[in-house]
Amino acid sequence: MRAVPVSDGIWWVGGVDWNLRDFHGYETPRGTTYNAYLVIGKDQVALIDTVKTAFVPELLSRIAEVVDPSEIDLIVVNHVEPDHNSGLRHVMAACPNARVVASKAGVPSVAEYHDGLTVDEVGPDDVIDLGGKTLRFMPMPMVHWPDSMFTYCAESATLMPNDAFGQHMASAERFADEVGLDLAVEELGIYFANILMPVAKMVGKAVDKVVAAGWKLDVIAPSHGVIWRGEGIGRAIGAYETWCANTLKDKAVIVYATMWGSTDSLAKAIADGMVAAGIDVSLYDLSVTPIATVTADLLDARAIVIGSPTLHHGMLYKVAGYMQYLAGVKPVGRLGAAFGSFGWGGGATKQITERLEAIGLTMCAEPFTEKFRPTTDDLDAAQEWGGVVAKAIKDAGASAPADA
Ligand code: FEO
Repeated sequence: MRAVPVSDGIWWVGGVDWNLRDFHGYETPRGTTYNAYLVIGKDQVALIDTVKTAFVPELLSRIAEVVDPSEIDLIVVNHVEPDHNSGLRHVMAACPNARVVASKAGVPSVAEYHDGLTVDEVGPDDVIDLGGKTLRFMPMPMVHWPDSMFTYCAESATLMPNDAFGQHMASAERFADEVGLDLAVEELGIYFANILMPVAKMVGKAVDKVVAAGWKLDVIAPSHGVIWRGEGIGRAIGAYETWCANTLKDKAVIVYATMWGSTDSLAKAIADGMVAAGIDVSLYDLSVTPIATVTADLLDARAIVIGSPTLHHGMLYKVAGYMQYLAGVKPVGRLGAAFGSFGWGGGATKQITERLEAIGLTMCAEPFTEKFRPTTDDLDAAQEWGGVVAKAIKDAGASAPADA
């Protein structure tokens, strides 16, 4: 795969990680990319971000298709996380005179990561003129780390926002419209839910800052996945605005694990009761569903309903593990409910309820607990309980139509 022109004077020269299947502990079945961009001015050449160390040879090979790497004058570190920054010192072996710049928060981190490397600070008042191409910088704390920064080239109307607008998707194509906008937006949502949902307010402020800056955007070139242009820019920004506003639907995500099938039967009866009450439902057995998939489906769900049988007086570890993950992504403004089966002594639904409350969900029904193998009457009761939760979801939706 060769270097790819992104916009006038800007080239994609990153690495494609086809085989990545785990990032931050969640599944990435489509792999990812570590995008880096060359900006070619009349007087200077800049490299925006580097790549994970193992992908430096790919990066240098692509750079060499455009310029000799020794001609790089400037390296911008938009984000210190190792997927973008760990390869920096190896890249610098090929361009030892390049000046390295980062945000105020990024400077000490980059220096520490690279054994005292000299790094200059850039901020919103700085403009670096490469000769007919200028670079501007906007600090974007917590999108995704405190050091994160966006870089913008006005002459090419190209924004390079690092993690923002990224997706974990390896592909031969470099643009979202080439892989299909629906797929790209789906992956954008999975990335947002699993990486950025805990900082959604900061992401919303970042989008507002870009809009307020009045920057013309012909291209949004993130550091993961495909690049947005044309209709894709509106689709990506619109999706971010919806997710940052925490716009919820009358929808429940049922998440559970099962031991002998009883909790599975209850989950399906509960789903039937919710569907009958007019609620959109997704149902996931944690034994067979990636946590990234479950979490992405929470983006627009008003309720999270969690089920587990009781083992050793508590919930199954898969459910406990998912709830730990759920606590990390910090869903806001959701309703919660717990259900499950037990053999001779309960405990799981009590634990689930306590954990959901600690995460910040508002419990909308008493836990539904059933002993041993569910009878037809038990399944009817579970269906009825699903209807109770559905009503609470509808009531909450009616009282909070804006969901901001
Ligand atoms: Fe892609 Fe926060 O690193």
